[in-house]
Amino acid sequence: MNKGFIFDLDGVIVDTARYHYQAWKKVAQQLGITFTLQHNEALKGVSRLQSLEILLSLGNIKKTETEKQALARQKNEIYLHLIENLSPQDVLPGVHSFITNTHNQVIKIALGSASKNAAYILKKLGIAHLFDARVDGTMVSQAKPNPEVFTKAAHLLGLAPENCLVFEDAEAGIAAAQNAGMKSIGIGNSTTLYQANLVVSGLDKLTVKQALNLLNSY
Ligand code: BG6
Ligand code: MG
Repeated sequence: MNKGFIFDLDGVIVDTARYHYQAWKKVAQQLGITFTLQHNEALKGVSRLQSLEILLSLGNIKKTETEKQALARQKNEIYLHLIENLSPQDVLPGVHSFITNTHNQVIKIALGSASKNAAYILKKLGIAHLFDARVDGTMVSQAKPNPEVFTKAAHLLGLAPENCLVFEDAEAGIAAAQNAGMKSIGIGNSTTLYQANLVVSGLDKLTVKQALNLLNSY
């Protein structure tokens, strides 16, 4: 079948979104910036440096490029420490069976993540082999909502954008899918992800047939 499913990583396959939040929260505290879960929604899906820019603008703080690099590095060190013990048990409910069923329907599978830690995380989760293609933060120059990550993933799968369906937990990710000319399923809250074609609370609440029907509908 000439169809493909493209999965975001953080917040879709594994609940690392909360560790990103915790790490940014520490950096924010150190800078005296008030940073809430609501503020964090704007950081989801966007690159590490872009996230820092958003955080600094929340506090109206200016930093030099060198200082920004140091802060981004510091955030990543905190984050890596938080995900040190990640294991196959941390794969979110329904993900394994959804991906296995996708394979059984001969639908191609790609990862489309902004994270530079994606390969490391997939390895820790023991699911790297399930993906036909992987595009992550080390391979793109534009952060979501730019469509680059999904356009590249579709290209690697050898598929046209209209034959790909994106699974995303971030507002910026849903916008990136739209900008790539792809339909999307939001994983999370329909208030935040209202631009998605369908929103579910997790992959355990969705069948491959429902997803395919959505992809095939006009
Ligand atoms: C995305 C996350 O998947 O990856 C963002 O939703 C994160 O919160 C981005 O900033 C970059 O991740 P990393 O691991 O390269 O810092
Ligand atoms: Mg995400």
